Amino acid sequence: MLNFTFKNQTEILFGKGQLSKVSSRLPENAKVLFLYGGGSIKKNGIFDQVITALSGTKFVEFQGVEPNPEFETLMKAVHVARENNVNFILAVGGGSVIDGAKFIAAAVNFNGDPWDILAKGAAFESPLPIGAVLTLPATGSESNGNSVVNRSETAQKLSFSSETVQPVFAVLDPEFTYSLPVRQVSNGVVDAFVHVIEQYLTYSVNAPLQDRFAEGILQTLIEEGPKALATPEDYNVRANVMWSATMALNGLIGKGVPQDWGTHMIGHELTALHGLDHAVTLAIVLPSLMYVQRKQKQEKILQLGERVFNIREDNKDKAIDLTIKAVQDFFETMQVKTRLSDYNIDKSSIDGLVENLKRNGLTALGEHGDIDLDKAREILTLAA
Ligand code: NZQ
Ligand code: ZN
Repeated sequence: MLNFTFKNQTEILFGKGQLSKVSSRLPENAKVLFLYGGGSIKKNGIFDQVITALSGTKFVEFQGVEPNPEFETLMKAVHVARENNVNFILAVGGGSVIDGAKFIAAAVNFNGDPWDILAKGAAFESPLPIGAVLTLPATGSESNGNSVVNRSETAQKLSFSSETVQPVFAVLDPEFTYSLPVRQVSNGVVDAFVHVIEQYLTYSVNAPLQDRFAEGILQTLIEEGPKALATPEDYNVRANVMWSATMALNGLIGKGVPQDWGTHMIGHELTALHGLDHAVTLAIVLPSLMYVQRKQKQEKILQLGERVFNIREDNKDKAIDLTIKAVQDFFETMQVKTRLSDYNIDKSSIDGLVENLKRNGLTALGEHGDIDLDKAREILTLAA
């Protein structure tokens, strides 16, 4: 097992009615930036519940963080935060709103161009504390320090990571997810599934506990994901999906083991250039990446097949093919299509995607750093 440090500072407030605890978790003299997305929370009643929870607290609202949060929009929120001297951000939404809150938190007291936080890994000081109210289980953003920001102007989707912007608390009320459109339920399950895969499907370092954690989350998503589509108002199904998605990327399962993240990095370029949903990009890239990296990942792919998909096949090559097919079939069962052509993207787009990887310095991806631009091209070509 590799060395690691582990701390997760986010207090999880899980279950029905937990939003009412928010005011007790805010700092004294809080002046809150209440940040949310395009307005789904106004339709499903969460907005009113947040207003009730904030009664007696000073706050300003900022509406309009888009899916794949836009740098320009977030900079507007930074100005609102500065003008109003806010000292806390309450992010109510999915990964985009929470990621957006992290960027705003880091940018508020940053001297210089905050884009450098993303583009150059610039250090920042005194970020604002954040609380999250999660409405879409998927990214794990509610209890990790990652933030991914899109800049359409330059066709870039870049990230930064710091535990200093990790939410101090996160409300996870499964009832808040009943109103999700099918597309977002599907996206969430696929994203969480691939988060586990990125931390599991590498090579063995004799870390059986991490493996079992990962396999447990994968199995839960495989069992509960389709139920969330079939019976959307089943509280326990929603609760299990929500907790699985949080556990998939709160740091725990990736401690002491190698990690990949190649699927995510290639996927980000598909969002930056073609606007595809984050999870869709993962469903396209992962099966082909598994195929191209089948030698390097052989042992773990076989373990995944046997333990998670119950594949019994002595011929290793066949077992690997069956496992890749099982992953692909799971995505399709979750109603997420797995080929570029399913989204009207043809092979002529691959040059641009590879060029963007190069521009962003993503030329040695994967747990071995061996996914270079040629391999990325091979993966995308296979996914066409
Ligand atoms: O904006 P509103 O109107 O709220 O609608 C949203 C949005 O249109 C809607 N939605 C959210 N909760 C809802 C709801 N609609 C009805 N009922 C509800 N309860 O869902 C749409 C998508 O929301 P978004 O936040 O974009 O989705 P998601 O949570 O999948 O976040 C995706 C973003 O997170 C980044 C992705 O790259 C992408 O930008 N990621 C962040 C990670 C992290 N912080 O660790 C890791 C991930 O790998 C990922 O990269
Ligand atoms: Zn993801």
